[in-house]
Amino acid sequence: MIKGIFPTEKFKAFETPFYYYDMALLRDTLDTIRRETDGKPFHIHYAIKANANPEILRLIASYGFGADCVSGNEILRALECGFSANKIAFAGVGKTDREIEIGLDNDIFCFNVESMAELEVLNDLAKARGKKAPVALRINPNVDAHTHRYITTGLNENKFGINEQDLPAVLRMIADGGHINLIGMHFHIGSQITDLSSFEDLCVKVLELREWFHTQGITLPVINVGGGLGINYQHPNHCPMADFESYFRLFDKYLKLEEDQTLHFELGRSIVAPCGSLITRVIFVKEGIKKRFLIVDAGMTELIRPALYQAFHHIENISSDKPLTPYDVVGPVCESSDVFARDFTLNESQRGDLIAIRSAGAYGETMASTYNCRIIPSSRFSDKL
Ligand code: LLP
Repeated sequence: MIKGIFPTEKFKAFETPFYYYDMALLRDTLDTIRRETDGKPFHIHYAIKANANPEILRLIASYGFGADCVSGNEILRALECGFSANKIAFAGVGKTDREIEIGLDNDIFCFNVESMAELEVLNDLAKARGKKAPVALRINPNVDAHTHRYITTGLNENKFGINEQDLPAVLRMIADGGHINLIGMHFHIGSQITDLSSFEDLCVKVLELREWFHTQGITLPVINVGGGLGINYQHPNHCPMADFESYFRLFDKYLKLEEDQTLHFELGRSIVAPCGSLITRVIFVKEGIKKRFLIVDAGMTELIRPALYQAFHHIENISSDKPLTPYDVVGPVCESSDVFARDFTLNESQRGDLIAIRSAGAYGETMASTYNCRIIPSSRFSDKL
């Protein structure tokens, strides 16, 4: 079994659990994205929700990428960490007045508007400021992302986006309101998408809608296809990077842009998931009746993905090279769902060993909670040990 390279000796001195970020891998990933989009009218807005750690954000911002935010506080965090306001897209089905005002007052790039009710409020708040709000309509494309149902967003049954049949009414509302500047359309079909044909389906839909807008005499300079590119959770050492080449090539091939049209992406997971690991210590090895449990000091409070989405994360014992043996790796939280993996083969483990739960850089630290009065985990960076 190939293992990741971790500075185990240094880790021994640290209190666990903590998130460890391989900053060289993150840089490699950002370089790759830059290379794959170079010379194309493609713009990346990093989805802050995936990981809002200031160190991570500063590095991503230093590449000149924009941000995709889903709350007023995410906008403020993005600005603090060096993202330009004119590259911030603001999405979300439930933006409060205060959050909309943060966007307006900072002159962000675009509001991804998800309903007529939101459009009306945005128009009024922009009017009160004597401004025009830049808007991309989030349209529900009814495209199946073939991913876990909790992270599918682009189907008619989901709460996200405006339905196609409402578009004529939306356009009337924009014309009547006078304080909306319609610049684009926005889509996001789901997350952890590994079957790229779902993105082909999305492209077909986008072209269809672009035609419809043309029939209304409208040309939209911005097309935003959201995020969703998946990573390989099974083999983090063999496949440490998402397939950006195929991903961007697909959009280049299937979504021919018009002159002055730009294509926007809101990638989160594919940028930050591989570089993060949750480092935890074995508290006890417990012999069950049919099982052997490895009880570690991290739980669903630090990484909720396995409990919430039955997500798979590769696990390694980075202190042991003894023979392999199966364990149920579980946390200390008082919930039966506090399980990282069942019957997972690890090097034989003992109390005090350090365990790395891999590919946890996205939706790990940001989704941590204080349930059971636990403490939000700290973070460490490979270039600052
Ligand atoms: N844009 C919008 C409008 C989104 O809702 C999302 C993610 C993204 C972009 C970024 O998608 P990504 O490239 O990261 O797939 N907590 C779940 C994932 C929730 C995704 C929510 N929306 C998980 O741990 O799998």
